[in-house]
Amino acid sequence: MSKDPVLVTGAAGFIGFHTTLRLLQDGRNVVGIDNLNEYYDVQLKKDRLQELDNFQNFIFVKGDIAEKNTMESIWSEHGPFKEVIHLAAQAGVRYSLENPYSYITSNCMGHLTVMEMCRHTEGFKHLVYASSSSVYGGNEKLPYSTKESVDQPISLYAATKRADELMSYTYSHLFSIPQTGLRFFTVYGPWGRPDMALFIFTKAIIEGKPLPVFNHGEMRRDFTYIDDIVEGILGTLNNPPPKDRKSPPCRVLNIGNSKSEQLMDFIAVIEDSLGKTASFDFKDMQPGDVKETYADIAETEELTGFSPKTSISDGIPRFVTWYKNYYDVA
Ligand SMILES: NC(=O)c1ccc[n+]([C@@H]2O[C@H](COP(=O)([O-])OP(=O)(O)OC[C@H]3O[C@@H](n4cnc5c(N)ncnc54)[C@H](O)[C@@H]3O)[C@@H](O)[C@H]2O)c1
Repeated sequence: MSKDPVLVTGAAGFIGFHTTLRLLQDGRNVVGIDNLNEYYDVQLKKDRLQELDNFQNFIFVKGDIAEKNTMESIWSEHGPFKEVIHLAAQAGVRYSLENPYSYITSNCMGHLTVMEMCRHTEGFKHLVYASSSSVYGGNEKLPYSTKESVDQPISLYAATKRADELMSYTYSHLFSIPQTGLRFFTVYGPWGRPDMALFIFTKAIIEGKPLPVFNHGEMRRDFTYIDDIVEGILGTLNNPPPKDRKSPPCRVLNIGNSKSEQLMDFIAVIEDSLGKTASFDFKDMQPGDVKETYADIAETEELTGFSPKTSISDGIPRFVTWYKNYYDVA
């Protein structure tokens, strides 16, 4: 077991928290950074951090990844880091219409700053960073494959994630930094994000309010359970692209459940888990949103051993149990 610390950016976030927890349980030393911004409930981020603080092998630094000085001091005080899992970002498709600047700062400047630090680290092993299924935009060929062109993003969020992939390619080409971008497909599970459908629907059903359902329910999503995502991230970290001189040590992989679910079926499982019936407020499609996502994961399975195991009928009840405990509802 390596004693070198792993840096996890966005450690107070949903995926960052679970990834850090798993690394700590595996005995790795982890340094986490997060700016605890107010995009959603800061208390939820602090409560996640409290769980991580139970581990002596965890150090947390509150700071902004887009600030060069902050990153330099975290590297000199707690690094150097030869392995980095970069998950900090301004997430959310819909919010990128309201607050575009935060996407460029966190997702583009932040990504550059992380890569600059990796570039100047001797013996650097692997940067694993979060991309998104949203880069597929309006692509109609399903399942989504990394071999398809993704040059028509339909939200600024998607454009920043695609920009990250392109910047990463360039940095791998110029400086031979091993990097893997993971295109996550709708991640859900305990400690999940309050701006995402599972959280919003569960809360609305409990409160007896109608569920806002876009495109009149005609949506399909590849929902991926958080434990499968964490397995995928760690499997990827341990399998960096080779430095074989034929091409830059850089790749982009899909990481989804590879099963496209009808939105209304997803809601039916939430109703079953809660033992309550939903009412609906059907709405038109939202700008920037896509109708369907579905991941081709053959390459990810081959290169990293990724193998998602959790169906929505297993995963959703686990979220509902967490939600009821955390918010103390019957
Ligand atoms: N959850 C999903 O379904 C999903 C899907 C596709 C891609 N992603 C990507 O995966 C990553 C993790 O997503 P998540 O669901 O955990 O989101 P999250 O919002 O819960 O986590 C992101 C964390 O990053 C922090 N952060 C944001 N900007 C920062 C900055 N400039 N400096 C330091 N910290 C900053 C936030 O405070 C937050 O805690 C993100 O890059 C996101 O875009 C997530």
